[in-house]
Amino acid sequence: MRGWQAPRYGGPEVLRLCDLPDPHPGSGEVVVGVRAIGLNFADCMARQGVYPRVPAAPFVPGMEVVGEVVAVGEGVADPRPGARVVAVPIFGGHAEKVRVPARYTFQLPPTVDWQTGAALAVTGLTANHALFTLGRIRVGERVAITAAAGGVGTMAIQMAVNAGARVLAVASTPEKQVLATDLGAHDAVGYAGYGEALAGGVDVVMDAVGGRLFRPGWRALRPDGRYILYGFATAVGARSIHRLRAGLEILRMGRLSPLPMVSHCRTLAGFNLSLVPHLAGELRERFASILALVTVGELKPVIGAVLPFAELPKAHALLQSRRTTGKVVVEL
Ligand SMILES: NC(=O)c1ccc[n+]([C@@H]2O[C@H](COP(=O)([O-])OP(=O)(O)OC[C@H]3O[C@@H](n4cnc5c(N)ncnc54)[C@H](OP(=O)(O)O)[C@@H]3O)[C@@H](O)[C@H]2O)c1
Repeated sequence: MRGWQAPRYGGPEVLRLCDLPDPHPGSGEVVVGVRAIGLNFADCMARQGVYPRVPAAPFVPGMEVVGEVVAVGEGVADPRPGARVVAVPIFGGHAEKVRVPARYTFQLPPTVDWQTGAALAVTGLTANHALFTLGRIRVGERVAITAAAGGVGTMAIQMAVNAGARVLAVASTPEKQVLATDLGAHDAVGYAGYGEALAGGVDVVMDAVGGRLFRPGWRALRPDGRYILYGFATAVGARSIHRLRAGLEILRMGRLSPLPMVSHCRTLAGFNLSLVPHLAGELRERFASILALVTVGELKPVIGAVLPFAELPKAHALLQSRRTTGKVVVEL
């Protein structure tokens, strides 16, 4: 099979299309014949060697795919060979076939096409976990969402609006802000206008950018406010990680003292869904509810770009340089 390998950690240009051995499923695993790849910001981080548990180079990145199950390992009753699935192998998905634990697969009904399927799982589950499990959003609450026009952000806007929240979307360009309001956000601002837009307070902040954005959002939390931190995109440059900037941006986040957290009734929660394998069963159930919303048209994944497999490095470059909106899908 062919796969895009990173022979060393680095920018999108390090990726090489290689002939690789076909994967075979181990116990509890399946092999998926990939039809489309859902590109994630995490794939850019993994390629640069800064994602948790990233394999040593050379390795094939690729967190999320859709396709058909072509082989099942010992002990796997579900999914069966031939099943259409979304799979989240975390690494290895930038290839024609990928081996993945069966519990990291989600059934995809025939009514959902490959492109849509590739845009659903990581974005939908991340937004769902941030807003509902950790964010506990309630009707009428005000929710600030950073990187709001991206893959996760566009899902989060729709889910928060559907849940009756008022959404403040934060995105870097006027075009991205227009997309956010088209999706139902009540206000949309650039990063420079964020502090002012927070006047009056917010109940929940959903933030994957971090750094200097953290303190204004944290301070604007109303009593019982919840700050959900799930990424640190501010550390990323167009081609590489800016280590000096990352250090400065961490300093800008300041020091948290537990006592004001208690007296102001504020919660800080962080998560990375790739590091909680024991939640796989629960996430499969939640994926089914996300799928149900998509099927009835209440949730519409935004697909900003579709590129062919041969142009996968270009898809990485576009995503990392902030030039994409919604989900980036790579078709095989
Ligand atoms: N913890 C988890 O389990 C989990 C799961 C999925 C995703 N995530 C995180 O959620 C975020 C969104 O993921 P995604 O795959 O949907 O990507 P995305 O939002 O489509 O793209 C990343 C966005 O981050 C914003 N950004 C801010 N500073 C940036 C910088 N220095 N370089 C590049 N982008 C920057 C950009 O939007 P603007 O131009 O509007 O700023 C960019 O479009 C990422 O930070 C990712 O790591 C976390």
